[in-house]
Amino acid sequence: TWTPDAFVDSTVAELKRKIGDEKVILGLSGGVDSTVAAVLLHKAIGKHLHCIFVNNGLLRKNEFEEVLEQYKGMGLNVKGVDASARFLDALKGESDPEKKRKIIGRVFIEVFDDEAHKVEDAKWLAQGTIYPDVIESVSATGGPSATIKSHHNVGGLPDFMKLKVVEPLKMLFKDEVRRVGRSMDIGEERLGRHPFPGPGLAIRILGDITAEKVAILQEVDHIFIKGLRDWGLYDKVWQAGAMLLPVNSVGVMGDERTYEKCVALRAVESTDGMTADWVNLPYEFLQKMSNDIINKVPGVNRVVYDISSKPPATIEWE
Ligand code: XMP
Repeated sequence: TWTPDAFVDSTVAELKRKIGDEKVILGLSGGVDSTVAAVLLHKAIGKHLHCIFVNNGLLRKNEFEEVLEQYKGMGLNVKGVDASARFLDALKGESDPEKKRKIIGRVFIEVFDDEAHKVEDAKWLAQGTIYPDVIESVSATGGPSATIKSHHNVGGLPDFMKLKVVEPLKMLFKDEVRRVGRSMDIGEERLGRHPFPGPGLAIRILGDITAEKVAILQEVDHIFIKGLRDWGLYDKVWQAGAMLLPVNSVGVMGDERTYEKCVALRAVESTDGMTADWVNLPYEFLQKMSNDIINKVPGVNRVVYDISSKPPATIEWE
């Protein structure tokens, strides 16, 4: 029978045999799969694993700094690369959801390739591909490899894609990946994390993206996600987040009329993201979130809750 401990033992032995003392590059995303893949490889080859964690400027508030610290705490040889300005610059003025995704995919590849070149004589590219990614070939949750494939069928591959590929989680389902992670003592803050899209907040800011909008949405999202944790609701929800809408609406403050932004909160139950139901969050909780967001985030004067299920409404608004 399959057990996480036995899987770790046999996989570590296999990775040692296969890789020897060659160098491996791995892109960390902060998510479950890449983290578990990294820790497995770290057990097998230690400092010969070179992890790269890119900040695209579209992550949750403080996520880059906090997760980078966690990775270092796990002993991983990780380089954090803050490329926020490069992503924001490339996205300037773009409102089309698919074009935003393409830009983010392209810039990610450029940044990752630059960093990969700095690791001298690397021979392998490790990926946190899991079984559902293999069978769907392009997974619903995308990830760097899916993006890379769709953008490089013409014009030649970036150099890191010419490396030999190692995918230690390729035969596992998500719940098995989590069990493997637990057996290696990876914390629940990584293993229990909600899914988060690769293009990040870019597809939750409807319309064009500016640093100011990102900052507003990070604050709103932070209040909502922290609220879910504080109220013991986080683990009852499959995925949650906030959308910054491209409309202003009228409000009053004292004697003044305001004309400010509206945000939509979304929380769904799902097993695989293919279908999803909106979560019946307690009114008291929604009331507290609405008050906190409107009082604490300048520029937002209205909060709505999305009560649409998938299909037809997708989880993300873009
Ligand atoms: P939708 O919005 O299609 O989302 O119902 C289903 C799941 O996929 C995630 N998602 C993405 N993940 N790149 C990603 O890595 C993307 O472009 C992307 N679009 C949606 C979404 O967060 C949900 O978990």
